[in-house]
Amino acid sequence: MIPIKNERQIARMREACAIAADVLQELRALVRPGISTQDLEEAGRDAIAKRGAKSACYGYQVGSRRYPAHTCISVNEEVVHGIPSFRRILRDGDVVAIDVVVSYNGVVGDNAATYAVGTVSPKIQQLLAVTEQSLRLAIEQARVGNRILDISQAVQRHVEANGFSVVRDMVGHGVGLAMHEEPQIPNFGREVRDRILPGMTLAIEPMVNLGGYRTKILADGWTVVTADGAASAHFEHTVLTTEAGPEILTRPTTSLFPLHAA
Ligand code: MF3
Ligand code: CO
Repeated sequence: MIPIKNERQIARMREACAIAADVLQELRALVRPGISTQDLEEAGRDAIAKRGAKSACYGYQVGSRRYPAHTCISVNEEVVHGIPSFRRILRDGDVVAIDVVVSYNGVVGDNAATYAVGTVSPKIQQLLAVTEQSLRLAIEQARVGNRILDISQAVQRHVEANGFSVVRDMVGHGVGLAMHEEPQIPNFGREVRDRILPGMTLAIEPMVNLGGYRTKILADGWTVVTADGAASAHFEHTVLTTEAGPEILTRPTTSLFPLHAA
């Protein structure tokens, strides 16, 4: 069963999602060559705490493993769930995916984005643009009466039309009272036939590879990397479905951008 949120829960979701979005904006502003992914983690930890929220990632348990950080920071060939490290220093030409999931007042908001570090190649720029576009197209399909499959197909169609590939081992998900709820939201045509109803809160999150779609997990038990070592991008929003159409909940309350307006 896909949980349907009531008005009270939706009001709380708005707050949690706004916090998640504000934290992501704050971290985005720090991305530059020379910073370590641990620096981003510590800034993220503090930005979450400052808002009275908690990281939903920290201590998150899968089997016997607990995720050891407050943010997921995935560089280049890392797809998702990269563990921040002092040793991983961002360099000019890298891409860094930052995933922020916060718990606030009993509900969870989830968002992520991938940023260029310094100047990236045209191919990488295109990877970022196409992945973000595929998220927009997917969100447009999160309409009452559509199926989850319509979201999946919107991503896959756009990504593959542009010569990139869609990760199959990881999927988007319902989010709200827990970080992962039903339904699963694949980014490819694996059929999830559930109909979209009003009051669903969905974490839609295309993960797109420059090369092949295959991935593997590093020995740390968390970091998902591309099997061929080529770069990957990840964008994610938490979206509320309503009779009037999809509403992105993970919108920042304050915009730090553009930072460099002329
Ligand atoms: N947005 C990621 C997800 O939905 C966050 C995972 S946190 C971790 O899977 F603890 F699992 F790493
Ligand atoms: Co997610």
